[in-house]
Amino acid sequence: MAQDQVEWNWWSKETVAVVTGANKGIGFEIVRQLAKQGITVVLTARDTNRGERAVESLKCEGLHDNVNFHSLDVRSEQSALALAEWLRDTYGGIDILINNAAIASTEIGDTFEDAKSLLDTNYFGVKNVTKALLPLARNTPGGFRVVVVSSSVGQLKGLGNNNKYRKILSDRENITEDLVDDFVYKYLLEVENGTWKEGGWPDWTKLGQRFPLRTYSVSKLAVNAYVSALHNTFAAGRGRKLGQAVNVFSCCPGLVDTDLGFLGRPVPKKTPEQGADTPVWLALYCPKGGSGKFWSDRNEKEL
Ligand SMILES: NC(=O)c1ccc[n+]([C@@H]2O[C@H](COP(=O)([O-])OP(=O)(O)OC[C@H]3O[C@@H](n4cnc5c(N)ncnc54)[C@H](OP(=O)(O)O)[C@@H]3O)[C@@H](O)[C@H]2O)c1
Repeated sequence: MAQDQVEWNWWSKETVAVVTGANKGIGFEIVRQLAKQGITVVLTARDTNRGERAVESLKCEGLHDNVNFHSLDVRSEQSALALAEWLRDTYGGIDILINNAAIASTEIGDTFEDAKSLLDTNYFGVKNVTKALLPLARNTPGGFRVVVVSSSVGQLKGLGNNNKYRKILSDRENITEDLVDDFVYKYLLEVENGTWKEGGWPDWTKLGQRFPLRTYSVSKLAVNAYVSALHNTFAAGRGRKLGQAVNVFSCCPGLVDTDLGFLGRPVPKKTPEQGADTPVWLALYCPKGGSGKFWSDRNEKEL
C-alpha cells in the first residue's frame, strides 16, 4: 500500500503516545515498539506497582528514558481525568491514544454482574478514556490517532442470528454513539432478564468455551461500532478543533500468547511482539481513508 498520506518518520521525541493496560501483554509490546521509534510513551496501568515494574523492565533496553508511567483505571472517570490533567501539565497535548486494556478471564462467569463488569472495562472504559483525552489531541501530521485494540469476535459474524442489530451495526455511515450504547444496554437487559437466547444472541459456549465469550464478543462488536460512530462525528466536523484531523481505528491483534484467560486452547499463537504490530502500524502510518474501519494484519477487514 502506498504511503501517500504523511511522510513516514514524521514522529520525534516530542511525539506523545498514551497506551492503556500496558503493564503486560500486547499493551506492553506496543509501548516498547513505539519507544523504540524514539516516541515519548506514557505507559498506563491500573496497578501502580505493576506499571512501574513494567517501565523498569525497559531499562536494560535503554528505553526507559522515553517511557513514563501514570496510573489509569479505564473504568474510572476520575482516574481518566487525573491522567488528562497530568498529560496537559507535563506535555501540553498528545498525538496518539491506544486503547488496549480489556478483560476476558475464565474466572469471569455468566451473570448480569459479570457481563456488566466486562462491558464496563472493554466498552465503557474505551469511551471513558477517549472522551477524557480527546481535548488534548494535537494537530499531529496526518491527524491525531486513536487506535482501539479489538478482536475478530467483534466482526458482525459475532452477532449470529441477531438480524435486528446486524442491520443497525452494519449501517456504518449512520451509526452513532447513542445507537451503540443502546445495543449494549439492550444486551445487558436481556442478560439480566435471562432472555438473551430468545433475543437471538449467539451461544458461544457451544464452541467449548468456559468463559462466556458472548459478552466479550458484544464488547468488541460495540467498540468496533463506536470507532465508526466517532469517525462519523469527526467527519461531520463535530468534536474536533477547526481544521484538525482525527483518525480512529479498531483492529484485531490476532490470537496472541498472553494472560488473556480464555485463550488456553492449544493452537498456534502470535507472540505479543507480533500482536502489537498492527496497532503500532496504524498509529504511525495512519492509512489514508482507513479511519472508522476495522483492521487486522495491516489490512482492512470486513465488519
Ligand atoms: N491475546 C489475544 O489473543 C487477543 C486476541 C484478540 C484481542 N485481544 C485484545 O488485545 C488487548 C490486550 O490483551 P492482552 O492479550 O495483552 O491481555 P492481557 O495480557 O491480559 O493484558 C490486558 C491488560 O489490560 C489491563 N486492564 C484490565 N482491566 C483494566 C482496567 N480496568 N484499567 C486499566 N487496565 C486494565 C490489564 O491490567 P492488569 O495486569 O492489572 O490486569 C493488562 O495490563 C485486549 O483489548 C484484548 O481484548 C487479545
